[in-house]
Amino acid sequence: MTSIQHRQYFNERAESWDRTSAGSERLSEVVSRCGLQSGQRVIDIGCGTGTLIPHIKNCVGKEGTVYALDFAEEMLRVLKTDTELSSVILICADIVKIPVCDHFFDHVLCFATFPHFNDKRAALSEMRRILKTGGKMTIAHLMGSREMNQFHGRAGGVVQHDYLPHGEEMKELLRRSHFSEINVVDEPNLYLAQGVK
Ligand SMILES: C[S@@+](CC[C@H](N)C(=O)[O-])C[C@H]1O[C@@H](n2cnc3c(N)ncnc32)[C@H](O)[C@@H]1O
Repeated sequence: MTSIQHRQYFNERAESWDRTSAGSERLSEVVSRCGLQSGQRVIDIGCGTGTLIPHIKNCVGKEGTVYALDFAEEMLRVLKTDTELSSVILICADIVKIPVCDHFFDHVLCFATFPHFNDKRAALSEMRRILKTGGKMTIAHLMGSREMNQFHGRAGGVVQHDYLPHGEEMKELLRRSHFSEINVVDEPNLYLAQGVK
């Protein structure tokens, strides 16, 4: 499926996107495992309507800065209506062409989005590019790759074949994308793939 079809798919779902379905406790748990620190500059890639952002803000505190990127402008429009997220800097762009200079972020976080990227190598390369040296990248899901891939298979349509690489495959992808300190957890209730630039 093309990027244009995906963008349309998510734009059509923005208004009814359920930000609370995952449960706040689980979201907080997953963010707490990312290793974010107070004062950091963080970007939420594929932010949707901002599900994860309150939890990111809690970790980075008032001294930190949160950016949020999505290519579906309707998702960002809905996000903007949340006054608690008014300090967040929004970027409407495709993952493969992020309008940000090199070495900018302390942490690049990609929650519940990686399977939707058509060109996963290009996405990883771009995520690494915008990281500071020593910065960390996290790809997270509230379910494992097997469960995620079954979920998309059942959903059908545009996302039917959207694929989350299993643990070993992801480790290899991260290695090839020149990340170091690679760690991948792929369990039925949690997927956490991390690497350092
Ligand atoms: C399943 S939603 C998850 C949204 C949010 N992270 C959440 O958990 O509610 C995936 C998001 O990624 C965005 N997305 C998918 N492919 C993208 C791409 N190539 N570039 C930028 N955003 C993308 C979609 O527009 C959508 O908002």
